[in-house]
Amino acid sequence: THRVILDVDTGVDDAMAILMAVAHPEIEVLGITCVEGNTSVDNVVSNTLAVLDTAGAPDIPVAAGARRPLIEPSRPSHVHGSDGMGDLGLPRSARIADSRHAVDLLHDLLTQSEVPVTIIALAPQTNLALLLRQHPEVAGRLERILFMGGSASGGNATAVAEFNVWHDPEAAAIALDAGVPAFMYGLDVFNQVTIDEADADALRDGLTASGRLAGALLHFQMADDPVSASYGGHIGDAGAVCALVDPAALRVERLPVRVELAGHSRGQTVVDRRQRAGEDTVHGGSPAGGAAAHPVDVALDVDVPRFA
Ligand code: BDR
Ligand code: CA
Repeated sequence: THRVILDVDTGVDDAMAILMAVAHPEIEVLGITCVEGNTSVDNVVSNTLAVLDTAGAPDIPVAAGARRPLIEPSRPSHVHGSDGMGDLGLPRSARIADSRHAVDLLHDLLTQSEVPVTIIALAPQTNLALLLRQHPEVAGRLERILFMGGSASGGNATAVAEFNVWHDPEAAAIALDAGVPAFMYGLDVFNQVTIDEADADALRDGLTASGRLAGALLHFQMADDPVSASYGGHIGDAGAVCALVDPAALRVERLPVRVELAGHSRGQTVVDRRQRAGEDTVHGGSPAGGAAAHPVDVALDVDVPRFA
């Protein structure tokens, strides 16, 4: 069993990831922490609680975290509808969030667990950065940070930066720098995994509340993205949960990654795929504006039918 904490900005595809993690027999979700990203943190909390009600998991603690990035102003995304979750009209939960801040919930769950825990980060990494700065000793309690973010090719928020890293580049750099094994589920694989319309229909018209919600969310993804409409809906962040339980479906390489912090490429994850030492190795020196490089297990390709 994988013991996990999800850090989310629910978020259409975060919702699918939560539904899958809760339903999966090999995953135990210890808690969910919320951060601004796709939408305001208050929306993220209420969306997350509503999803957990649908999933029949009303006991998983949910805590509100950072309301804005470390340095950048608040800047919620526009791609997930006005409520951040596709405006599906999901009933509001009667439950309220845990009274602890996300950083405190993370700290408590990590220190109470007898076995190492995996954080699945599906959002800007502001909460993780705050945790690792405030309680650096918890790094030793983490099995790894499996994050959806970054790219070894192009970006989506900008030409080169993926949204979660772009939204809070300093936070991503701090999390990479914490000495915790890191696994990057970036756009190289994220953009590939879709579920075709017939399967989305089967989910939407199926017997379980979780499946019906996942089907509706996939249909939102298709409607929202005219390109993907022809071949299916993106499962998005849910793919990072697949990566946890079925790593054999991915081609993964351990590569040096650093987060660009300055200029037009701010928020880019620079993934070094060279096979031999370059001039920078020979002559040394790291340019201004970039964080240090760290070894990261980077998912580069995926068996799409298997994930779907
Ligand atoms: C990431 O940004 C968000 O819109 C999605 O939920 C995903 O985590 C993709 O860049
Ligand atoms: Ca997300």
